[in-house]
Amino acid sequence: MNSYVKDFPLLRREMDGQSITYLDSASTTPKPQVVIDAVTRYYTEMGANVHRGVHPLGEASTAAYERARYAAAALIGASPSEIVFTRNATEAFNLVAQGLDLHPDDEVVFPASEHHSNYMPWRMWAKPVLVDIDDEAVPHYQQLRDRIGKHTKLVTLAHVSNVNGVIAPVEEWVEIAHKAGVPIMVDASQSVSHLPIDVKKLNCDFLAFSSHKIFGPSGVGVLYVRRDRFDSLKLFNVGGGMVKYHGEDRFEPREAPFRYEAGTPNIEGAIGFGAALEYLRNIGMDKIQAHSQSLGAMMVKELKALPEARVLGARVPPERRVALCTLSLPVPSMTQANIARLLADSHAILVSGGFHCAHVLHHRAALDGTLRASAHLFNDEADIEKLVAALRDLV
Ligand code: ALA
Repeated sequence: MNSYVKDFPLLRREMDGQSITYLDSASTTPKPQVVIDAVTRYYTEMGANVHRGVHPLGEASTAAYERARYAAAALIGASPSEIVFTRNATEAFNLVAQGLDLHPDDEVVFPASEHHSNYMPWRMWAKPVLVDIDDEAVPHYQQLRDRIGKHTKLVTLAHVSNVNGVIAPVEEWVEIAHKAGVPIMVDASQSVSHLPIDVKKLNCDFLAFSSHKIFGPSGVGVLYVRRDRFDSLKLFNVGGGMVKYHGEDRFEPREAPFRYEAGTPNIEGAIGFGAALEYLRNIGMDKIQAHSQSLGAMMVKELKALPEARVLGARVPPERRVALCTLSLPVPSMTQANIARLLADSHAILVSGGFHCAHVLHHRAALDGTLRASAHLFNDEADIEKLVAALRDLV
């Protein structure tokens, strides 16, 4: 057993007398004890609102909350003033889609493989222009140049796809977009807990991810906005906490990032998120990346060998993947979601089954759902072997 397992109380759970094998971190990661303790400590030792308290408990809450913003900024090489806390990555995309003041004829270019959260806001507030995907659901990244036109207002893409597990050539896309004078937004939801990220090196304009996929509580998301980009971003929600002055005649918003954070935030969530980032910092993102890519390579190799398995992104070399592998496995009279359920009920192996909030990807790849296994730092080779053996039995 891998030495990190002991840090995660959830992984000690049994189902029908069997220890669980958690291979669903792309959906949400389990939380280490240090995160659970940080949330409890907020309730038992601080418990006050942030940015308002004139008493010591308010000061302690605000300091812990703002430390989480520092930790999020440090994780991606940003400045704390460039970090907006949202409810999740989805809200971050909606904030940018509404904040950019897009017109229905304005175009936003992104791959057809994008998750609903980085697709639907652009169809609501502008016009999507899709980069095609191949038969393994991997984008034809080189199409970007042809897709950018005079109506393009933004380019966006997942750093790592939540379905094919492939690391996108973000640096190249940033260069192409910027040469065309177009800003670019990166969805780091599936990459930020597997790979080191430096927004200054990437030079992207916006980047989003959520706490719950990086070992923190749910209900907290991060929107990175490059300092100079705040000027082009209208207000999102308005209300308490985001104004300096509010009179009958006018109001004056606070400076960024606070002007985008109306209302009492998820204080305990953010504090728990801060603890999760400290936990990861102590392990080291380089070490996590090496482990993720080694498990990713094993998953593709072993799952590809199953009879008639169709593994998405299998042609992509292991150094361009993380520990996330999605496949379709023909089993008579069973959907891929049925297979996922059977793995849970018979073997206590927890994976995703279905469309993973990426319907267009599945339509385009002519797939009626898929099975997704996603591993993380507490998984090891034995977990993958167990999954492969259970699937081999089934087929
Ligand atoms: N976006 C998450 C997933 O891919 C929920 O499962």
